[in-house]
Amino acid sequence: MARAKIALIGSGQIGGTLALLAGLKELGDIVMTDIIEGVAKGKALDLAQAAAVEGYDARLSGAGTDGYAAIAGADVCIVTAGVPRKPGMSRDDLLGINLKVMEQVGAAIKQHAPNAFVICITNPLDAMVWALRKFAGLPASKIVGMAGVLDSARFTCFLAEAAGVSIEDVRALTLGGHGDDMVPLVRYSTIGGVPLPDCVKLGFFSQEQLDAMIKRTRSGGGEIVALLGTGSAFYAPAASAIAMAESYLRDKKRMLPCAAHLDGEYGIKDTYVGVSAIIGAGGIEKVVELALDENEKAMFEKSVASVQSLIEACKKISPALA
Ligand code: APR
Repeated sequence: MARAKIALIGSGQIGGTLALLAGLKELGDIVMTDIIEGVAKGKALDLAQAAAVEGYDARLSGAGTDGYAAIAGADVCIVTAGVPRKPGMSRDDLLGINLKVMEQVGAAIKQHAPNAFVICITNPLDAMVWALRKFAGLPASKIVGMAGVLDSARFTCFLAEAAGVSIEDVRALTLGGHGDDMVPLVRYSTIGGVPLPDCVKLGFFSQEQLDAMIKRTRSGGGEIVALLGTGSAFYAPAASAIAMAESYLRDKKRMLPCAAHLDGEYGIKDTYVGVSAIIGAGGIEKVVELALDENEKAMFEKSVASVQSLIEACKKISPALA
């Protein structure tokens, strides 16, 4: 069977790491695009040469500035085109600039890769994937946002370190929008199968430590932005999107937290927000509606309201979305 084609729209920090990971995992041939002349071609050439050392079989190519046509026939498109935040900025501050980018990219996907499974990473994530779906005219099952895997990975990392256990045995779950109101779900997060409230009772860490880890997860992206000084996180975001792409391409049917289109689930309509979903060959095959207690529900609703206010802002900027 011919190799899958993976198109990367945006070849900056995350785009370059996506290409490396997709190559190492031999997920398919990779086409890189970017609006800056030379960036996609240069990175693709560098990574094609790395293949000689690492031994991965993947054809890597980069397109020039007229590059959107190069995504033609892609099985998967991963979108990182746009600008990342600088220290002191929130993800929401990127809305105006990145919405225009989504308009261009959406039109390109519509024209050249209408059958692709699209994973959006550009921030502010939930609003951007909502807008990209409209611009690209895709069915809800074929376009998803990457945030929950990353937020959950951050929570997982902190939990494993605090408990002093292997990261392999920690399963954390974070739902809601990719912002400060995200909802780390302690009842649904486990260490070796033990829910976190019971881990506190077992003395793995104190309730105060757990609360501090939840807070740190919520501001996990900002912590890295402040440390880097220029740009935002890229290794973990790329690894997270690759897990989603792999689940689609290999029909793994992983149940992952991701920004999926809600059409009545949790009583919410026409909104993209972080929920648990099953990703397989059919794209988003199922949104899994979890039972939330009163407190979790209140946090989730607050987060959804933040996302919906950003969606309203998108509609004001771009009336075509209304
Ligand atoms: N079409 C194609 N590429 C574009 C476009 C466009 N219209 N506009 C910008 N780009 C390219 C930039 O030239 C740049 O190379 O997108 C790339 C973005 O890369 P970085 O600036 O390195 O940003 P990165 O860290 O990869 O983050 C990308 O993901 O996490 C989010 O907030 C982050 O929105 C940001 C996105």
